[in-house]
Amino acid sequence: MKEYAPVKEGKVREIYDIGDSLILVATDRISCFDVILDNTVTKKGTVLTQMSRFWFDMTKDILPNHMLSTDVNDMPEFFRKPRFDGNSMLVRKLTMLPVECIVRGYITGSGWASYQKDGTVCGIRLPEGLRESDKLPEPIYTPSTKAEIGDHDENISYEQSIVHLEKLFPGKGEEYATALRDASIAMYKKCADYALSRGIIIADTKFEFGLDENGQLVIGDEMLTPDSSRFWPADEYEPGRSQSSFDKQFARDWLKANEGHNWKLPQEIVDKTIDKYLQAYEMLTGKRL
Ligand SMILES: Nc1ncnc2c1ncn2[C@@H]1O[C@H](COP(=O)(O)OP(=O)(O)O)[C@@H](O)[C@H]1O
Ligand SMILES: [Mg+2]
Repeated sequence: MKEYAPVKEGKVREIYDIGDSLILVATDRISCFDVILDNTVTKKGTVLTQMSRFWFDMTKDILPNHMLSTDVNDMPEFFRKPRFDGNSMLVRKLTMLPVECIVRGYITGSGWASYQKDGTVCGIRLPEGLRESDKLPEPIYTPSTKAEIGDHDENISYEQSIVHLEKLFPGKGEEYATALRDASIAMYKKCADYALSRGIIIADTKFEFGLDENGQLVIGDEMLTPDSSRFWPADEYEPGRSQSSFDKQFARDWLKANEGHNWKLPQEIVDKTIDKYLQAYEMLTGKRL
């Protein structure tokens, strides 16, 4: 049996290169405040992978996606073991476009900080009088460039995204930048409307896209998971304050309240955390895992 080693290991995900395609594995690791905790959250990786799968299926009429299969029987033998079952996705290898395509439907986080300073978010002027967590009149597209490891991603304007892409793909910068913006907004709108009908607000999210062998734009990476997005429970939504995050709030709150935690959560908090992930999955898909 051929053995595989990850070509890349992130805080939470592992990537395997199997030739023409890749296998993206969401592990059960959890990171809080950018630190990997000394716990595993059983089934978390499966929830994330199955959520991406759900959104890829829902949006394939808007844009093709990279997903080929989440069945380990479609993967090399090495992957047919419990450790990969349910949490792995076989995907088409793409030439990634190095822009993080962020869409914000609500004002929060760094966007709220920026708005308080000068009334803009990533160079986009917003109406006066918005409160923290308010819904924006229309979702906005605020791209950023991917930083080298350790650095923070850098926000850029839509115009700068044209220049950035033009450098890498001469003659194509504007076409790609426009396509990224339009696809991002369309994906966000469709999915956020749906999620709201199921009781979840998707406040903002990040998409990544690439080109396939025919130069067709394809959405890649993970899609609309609690790791790439802010999910808020709609029934607790109240503008004028920060909202609790659906997934990691218990973990974050406990870490803040317990000094000397050494980045290890008690089992009770781990259990509550996975319950939240499962709840989000069930609300969105109407199915249990
Ligand atoms: N279909 C794909 N083809 C090639 N690269 C991909 C594909 N889908 C996602 N990627 C890339 O895989 C990587 C996933 O790594 P990740 O664990 O998110 O770490 P990071 O975001 O810090 O690079 C990203 O660089 C992403 O752009
Ligand atoms: Mg990433």
